[in-house]
Amino acid sequence: MNAIQLQKFVLSESASLSDAMQSFEQTGLRVVLICRPDGSLTGLATEGDVRRALLAGHGLISPILPHANRTPAVGRADMSREDLFALLSERVHFLPVLDERNRVKDILFYDQRTMIPIASPITGELELRYVTDAVISGWISSQGKYITQFEERFASFCGARHAVAVANGTVALHLALTAIGIGPGDEVIVPALTFIATANAVRYCGGVPVFVDVDRATWNIDPERVESAITARTKAIIPVHLYGQPCDMDRIRAIARRHRLRVVEDAAEAHGATFGGRRVGAIGELGCFSFYGNKIITTGEGGMVVTNDAALDEKLRLLRDHGMSRTRRYWHEVIGFNYRMTNLQAAIGVAQLERWDQIISAKARIRRWYDTRIDHRLLEGARPLPKAQPVCWLYTLMLKEGVNDTARDSLLRELKSNHIDSRPVFHPIPSMPPYYEPDWTDRYPVSVAISKRGFSLPSSVEMVEGALQRTVLHINDLVRSLPMSIRPGADSAADRSRNRARRFRPFGRESRGSLGHPTV
Ligand SMILES: Cc1ncc(COP(=O)(O)O)c(C=O)c1O
Repeated sequence: MNAIQLQKFVLSESASLSDAMQSFEQTGLRVVLICRPDGSLTGLATEGDVRRALLAGHGLISPILPHANRTPAVGRADMSREDLFALLSERVHFLPVLDERNRVKDILFYDQRTMIPIASPITGELELRYVTDAVISGWISSQGKYITQFEERFASFCGARHAVAVANGTVALHLALTAIGIGPGDEVIVPALTFIATANAVRYCGGVPVFVDVDRATWNIDPERVESAITARTKAIIPVHLYGQPCDMDRIRAIARRHRLRVVEDAAEAHGATFGGRRVGAIGELGCFSFYGNKIITTGEGGMVVTNDAALDEKLRLLRDHGMSRTRRYWHEVIGFNYRMTNLQAAIGVAQLERWDQIISAKARIRRWYDTRIDHRLLEGARPLPKAQPVCWLYTLMLKEGVNDTARDSLLRELKSNHIDSRPVFHPIPSMPPYYEPDWTDRYPVSVAISKRGFSLPSSVEMVEGALQRTVLHINDLVRSLPMSIRPGADSAADRSRNRARRFRPFGRESRGSLGHPTV
C-alpha cells in the first residue's frame, strides 16, 4: 500500500470516534491506526472497538485512543511477505507493518491470506442433484435425458433452432469448420488476438488461418481489415467475441455475403451477450461455445455448436459420433470423431442454465463495481458498439498508451504478492511458434498493444464485496504509483479521432447509469 492510501487508515492520538467512522467509510475496511506525529504507532482500533464505545455511552466526539488496542500484533518491514502473512490468523485480522522506528509502513489484512481467484465456477446443490440423478439412472455416458435437455434449453437460450453438445469448445470449432467443408488449403480469417484454439481448429481441418488485426475500440476482429485479407481461397470468417464483447456482426455478415463466405462465431467467452438484440452464437451460420470451468456457464469441460440450419445440425451430429449413420448402426458415412459430451456434464449444464439470472446479475454487479471504483485515468477497456450488449466474462482493462510497457507485468506480480489472481491478455497468435510471422509487431499493432498492456481482474460469480474492495484498493494503489508519462484523463490523438468518427456508448446496457470509464 502506498503512503497516500495508508494515510486513510491513520489517525492522530487526538482523533475521535467519529473520525474513526469516517475512515471506515472512506477505506471500506474496518480498522484505523492511531499514530504519533512522527508516524510511530500508538494503537489500533477496529469497527468493533468503536461500536462497543458507542454502546457504552461514549459520544461521537469522544477520543478513540482509550478504546484502541495499545499492544496489537505487528510485523516488521524487513520481514518477507510470506512471513508477514503467517502472522495473520483468526485472532489477528489486521497487521500493521512497522520500520525500525515503529513508523507504520504498511497494513496487511487477514483476508489477504486467501487468493482471490480470477474466475471460479458457481456450482452447488442444484448441480449435485442433477448429476446424482444421472449417476443413479446409470446414464453416465453420452446418452441420456440431460443431453437432450441441455441441447434444447441451450438452443432456446441462444434463440437458435439447434444445439449440438460436444466435449469442449475447441472441438466445437473443429466440428463446425468440418461441417461447412473447410479442407486443405482453404483460408479462414481469424483475429490475431484470441485464444489459440480458434486458429488451431482451422489447422485441424488442414486449412490456413489468416490473421487480421483487431479493432482498437472493441478489441475484436476489425471488419475493415477483414475485407482486405480476402483472397480467392478464403472460405470463412471466425469472429471471436473476446471477453464477452460482441463483434460487429452486421459488417461481418455483410462482408461474408458479398464474398460468399461462411461465418462461424467463436462465442466461447460470450454466453448471453447480444448484438442487435440477438444472442451471439446464433447470428452467424454456426456458433461455438465453451463450458470450461472458468466460463460464464460451465460443465467442467464441454462445448456446444448452435445453428439455425437443420442440414448443418444433422451433419454436426453425424460428425460428432464417428460419422455413423443416424439410421443404420455401425454404418459410417464419413470419417467422423468422438466429440460427444457426457450426460453427467450435461446435467451440470442444465443446472447452470437454471442459474442464469443469478450468474448474469452477479457478473453485472462485478462490472459495475469495478467500473465505478477503479481509477480509470490510466486504464481503458474495450468499448461496446451501439448495438451490442456485452457480458462480463472477465473484467479486462489495459494500461493506456504512454504507460511504461513493463508496468503491466509488475502490476500483475504485485497483485499476486497480495494474493489477488489476475491474468494477462492473450499473446497475438502470429507471435507464437506454430503461427509465427516475422513481422507480427508491424502487421498487428493493435493486438500487440492490447496484449502487452491488457489484463483481467477477478470476476468470479460469488466474489464477495470484501474481495472486490481489496482488488480495487490494490489496483488503484498500484496504478497511481506508476510513473505517468501521459496526462491522466488525456485522450491519445488516435482515440480522439476515433471518438469523433464513431459514437460509442461507454458501457453496455447492463452497466448503464454507472460512472464507469471516463470517455477515452
Ligand atoms: C475464444 C476461445 N475459443 C475457444 C476456446 C476453446 O474452448 P475449450 O477450452 O472449451 O476447448 C476458448 C477457451 O478458453 C476461448 O477462449
